[in-house]
Formats: sequence, structure tokens, C-alpha cells
Amino acid sequence: MNDIARTKDLAQPVDIDAGQDMEAFWMPFTSNRHFKSAPRMLARAEGMHYWTPDGRRILDAVAGLWCTNAGHCRTPIVEAIQRQAATMDFAPTFQMGHPLAFELSNRLLEILPPEFGQVFYTNSGSEAVDSALKIALAYHRMRGEGQRTRLIGRERGYHGVGFGGISVGGIAGNRKHFGSMLAGVDHLPHTHDLAHNAFTKGQPAWGAHLADELERIVTLHDPSTIAAVIVEPVAGSTGVLIPPVGYLQKLREITAKHGILLIFDEVITGFGRLGSPFASQHFGVVPDLVTVAKGITSGTVPMGAVFARRGIYETFMQGPEKSIELFHGYTYSAHPLACAAAIATLDVYQDEGLLTRAATLAPHWEEAVHSLRDCPNVIDVRNIGLIGAIELAPRAGAPGTRAFDAFTRAFHEQDLLVRTTGDIIAMSPPLIVQPSQIDEIVEKLRRVLTTLD
Ligand SMILES: Cc1ncc(COP(=O)(O)O)c(C=O)c1O
Repeated sequence: MNDIARTKDLAQPVDIDAGQDMEAFWMPFTSNRHFKSAPRMLARAEGMHYWTPDGRRILDAVAGLWCTNAGHCRTPIVEAIQRQAATMDFAPTFQMGHPLAFELSNRLLEILPPEFGQVFYTNSGSEAVDSALKIALAYHRMRGEGQRTRLIGRERGYHGVGFGGISVGGIAGNRKHFGSMLAGVDHLPHTHDLAHNAFTKGQPAWGAHLADELERIVTLHDPSTIAAVIVEPVAGSTGVLIPPVGYLQKLREITAKHGILLIFDEVITGFGRLGSPFASQHFGVVPDLVTVAKGITSGTVPMGAVFARRGIYETFMQGPEKSIELFHGYTYSAHPLACAAAIATLDVYQDEGLLTRAATLAPHWEEAVHSLRDCPNVIDVRNIGLIGAIELAPRAGAPGTRAFDAFTRAFHEQDLLVRTTGDIIAMSPPLIVQPSQIDEIVEKLRRVLTTLD
């Protein structure tokens, strides 16, 4: 990358207090005690790499946390954020506006399927999901169908950590303490089945019939009580679960037949991860609402959004003109820094063809990740776009520990950042990844897997 601000010596050790007390930071989704006993710290980033405080260069095979799609610290994005911070730090969007919010919305519509007409902003994927669920409930009410209050998610779905998101989500660990707070939620079965689909390249041929379960569930509850169905087109956080051929199309047919809104949670699949701007284009299925975050600003400034299909917004535009149509929003909805970052990010995506680059790299990526299938303990390899997963056999009585050890050894011994969930190693590099770096990721991982007990 030659456009990156080289104001920093990336490998220069960062002066950190080695004896720093780490107790005060309650780390999210982290084994706090384990981490604090052997910390994995990052201090700088550029392009495809992080640097540790002591100057080690780490190859980023997971785009931070599925978000830095344009690569790290890209100059146009960094400069746009800097300029905006000095121009206007904050502006309210409740009964007020600022030009960047409108500009960004128009820019986003340009890359969405033409059926979409409006953008509602949030600060995260979790907020985008809860906003989409609320929009769905309110939409039905505005149309005189207020009895549509039920929401349907899917087992092994991840939709963030708001009360709405965990309720429709299907991860037992997340739901355990607070997952039943929302009444009237049901779940589709997940589509992951190694007996039928192990080592499939791309979409599995088996499993579309699992979408028929939706017909059974809506019939059970009475279709006229269902507001929305929410799924990730490709489930990411629960270990890369790829939809069987025809599965999403069936969900669309069944929801349309019963007047139920279909929500695609594209927090991971949005912004080029599969080789199209959005999964909806990749799979040729147009939902009613789409949630995004992460790649919208390439992870630089927190931002999320809900895209609404034309007609949904219009349904709300009734009653006295001075009345508020949707009682929902966040102080930082369409924050100026996030808007500036998102516009600059879209420019980078466009200038470098990044929203479709994954399609070009996908064959190389597929071949590379599947070359790991003969490594010890590997029970599945799967891939789509620039996403890949290696599933390992769990150790007897200690599920999750084998992949977690792979993750820590990749970081400490191979200078490689991956992500694990259960016994699955997930990868989703920045979309600027070079073919030689794909090979490097796979070789580093191979060295870990061949020496892992
Ligand atoms: C599909 C999906 N939805 C929602 C979220 C939650 O996003 P956030 O962590 O920004 O709240 C995530 C995060 O990984 C996600 O993958």
C-alpha cells in the first residue's frame, strides 16, 4: 500500500507499563482471567497488519473483527476523520440535520439493490438489529396489523447483544442469562450438518428443505401473528454457516406469501465480503430490511445502519406533518465523524473495486483454505467469498480448547490473527489481501495445526 500515512514507525516498540494493572478494564466476550495472565496486545496497524507493543508484525486474517474491509489506517479515511473532527465534531439529528448524513444515505442507495429507499443510522450492529426489529413491529402496526408481534430467528444465529438481538439470536451461551426477555420469539433450525456437507466448497447442495420449517413454525403460531424473520445470509460469529443452495430463496417465498418481513443481518456479509456489495445481491434474494455495521466505516468509527425497502418508510409518513413518525433513534445516529469515515470508506471501496474483489480472489482463497483438510483433527473446511472456516474435532471433555489453543499459538508463535468460536477457526481477511498473503495465512495456520495436540 503506498497511500498510507507513514507518520509512525510501525515496528518501533510502544512504551507500555509492563506492570500495568489490568483489572479495571472488564473485557467484552473475553476470558478476562486468562487474558490478563498472558495478554495479547495490539498497538499499531496498517494495511494487512497489526503490530504488537514490542514491535512484532501480525498478519490480520480476520479484518480486526470482520470489519476493516479496506485494510487498516487507510490514508483517505484517516484524513476524512481528522478533517471532520476539526470541522464539526457533533451535530444532533433529532429535528436537525447535517449534509454528510444525507450524502452518505444517497451514496449507500447507489450500491444497494434498487428496491431499497431509506437508511436509518445506529452506532453498532446490535443497535441496527434492535432498530430493524422495532421498525418491523411498528410497520405492521402502522398498517393496522398490530397483532403481528412475533419474531423468528434461527438457531446458531448471532444478532448482537441488545435484548432484541439476543432473543432472536440462537447462541445458547448468550441466551442463558437474558435470552428469554422478549416474548413470542421462535427459532428456525440451523443449517449446519457435517454428515451431509463436510468439506463443501461454497454453498452446500444439501439442506434447502430446512427452510420449509418456517412454514411449520408460522402455521403453528398463525401466520398473521408473525412480524418478521431475521437471519444472517451467512452466519459468521457462530462459525461460518453457509446457506444451502436455494435455502434463502425459500425463506423469501414463505415470508412473502404470509406478509412477513424478511430481515437480512448483513453486519458481516455487507460491504463486499462475499464478492458483491451485499449478500442480497450475491444470492439474488431481496429482503425487506437489511442491517449493517462493521464494514460501513471499515471499522474506523462505530456506525451501524438499517436499510429499508421502498414502501416501508412511506407507510410511516402519515398523521399530522409535525408529528414524529418513528419514536426511535440514538444521540449519535449519523454522527458526523462516522458519516465522514463512511463516505471516505465508500470512496476507497469504489476506487479500488473492493466491493467485488472477493469474487476475483475467491477461487484462490478456496483452494488455499481447502489445502488444510488433511491437517490433524480437521473435520471440515468451508468457504464462501473471502470467508473461510476450519472446524476441528473437539478434545474429549474440553470442547473449544483445541481451537482456542490454535488461536493463541497462531498469535504468539506465527504472528497471525484469526478468530475462533467453539472448535471452529474463522477467517475473513481485509479485502485488500494479496494472493501471496492468502498463502501466508494458510501456511502459518498449517504450522499451527500440524503441531497442535
Ligand atoms: C451478524 C451480526 N449481527 C450483529 C452483530 C453485532 O454487532 P456489534 O458488535 O457491532 O453490536 C454482529 C457482530 O459480530 C454480527 O456478526
